[in-house]
Amino acid sequence: MSLPKKVKLVEVGPRDGLQNEKQTIPVEVKLALVNRLSEAGFANIEAASFVSPKWVPQMATSTELMASIDRRPGTVYSALVPNMKGFEAALAARADEVVIFGAASEAFSQKNINCSIAESIERFREVAAAAKANRLRLRGSISCALGCPYQGEVSPEAVVDVVRRMRDLGCDEIDIADTIGVGTPAKVQRVFERVANEFPLNQCAGHFHDTYGQAIANIYAALCTGVAIFHASVAGLGGCPYAKGATGNVATEDVLYLLDGLGITTGVDINAVVDAGQFISKHLGRPSASRAGNAIAARRLSERTS
Ligand code: HMG
Ligand code: MG
Repeated sequence: MSLPKKVKLVEVGPRDGLQNEKQTIPVEVKLALVNRLSEAGFANIEAASFVSPKWVPQMATSTELMASIDRRPGTVYSALVPNMKGFEAALAARADEVVIFGAASEAFSQKNINCSIAESIERFREVAAAAKANRLRLRGSISCALGCPYQGEVSPEAVVDVVRRMRDLGCDEIDIADTIGVGTPAKVQRVFERVANEFPLNQCAGHFHDTYGQAIANIYAALCTGVAIFHASVAGLGGCPYAKGATGNVATEDVLYLLDGLGITTGVDINAVVDAGQFISKHLGRPSASRAGNAIAARRLSERTS
């Protein structure tokens, strides 16, 4: 078993992390967060989501946010787009990458984007063509790849079926998402082994929520199968408004600590991410959900005061 030497981290905190917050977060706070994350050196930051503001009110400031961020050369700024209306907004906002998001579960597809899987692929077809015509990167995200809050079990075949359809739309990268954090390492390996028959593993990402505390183990399992792109959320923020009870993504600080211990490089400065995590947690008025982030912040404090 040889692990990748380098991993691409996609920081999803500003989008997946904040979309589920009940209190309205001022755009200035989001901006400060994205700018801090940019300075930390991420290759990719999922900053925005051009969805219906009636469905996800917290993302309604995406245009303003994208207009104001200090873009770091070398960072790809992504935005979710469910349809052409979202695509047009993302294009106008100068997103570098658009993310079409579907599901491996029919029930979740209906709840999240109000259409069947087949209908979603038809909607995405036009978005995919427009992304190519405008030379934007196209990413596909597959929710409920390891279980569904409405349907329960989801088979690897159902995941592979959506992978094939997203591949055929021309996706440059495909995310295998554990929306409700129910996956375990053996299941993660099984699904990636099956996906690898249809799409290059080096263009697949693991997107793990941490509801059952398995996300770090799942990342390790995915690394062992050859996956080298992972999503994470600063301070472990997040959750999907259409997946009740699911907690945030795996915390970025925890992933960085894991990868550093394995000698895997990311180009991301963990100290800057810890600062960003403490900043946003302070704003939200609750402690960070990152164990490594809190430990590093506490260690620094004790070093300063001793
Ligand atoms: P719909 O109601 O079927 O759409 O929603 P519609 O086309 O009938 O339009 C209804 C209204 O929404 C209209 O406005 C449209 O203009 C407007 P009205 O005439 O009523 O004033 N509208 C839009 N407004 C802004 N931007 C748009 C847009 N499209 C329509 N792009 C729709 C269908 C897809 C729009 C809706 O279901 C929706 O916005 N869903 C988004 C749900 C969402 O954002 N979920 C969270 C993100 S996914 C996630 O977190 C999972 C992920 O992290 C991976 C994982 O963990 O699994 C990615
Ligand atoms: Mg998610």
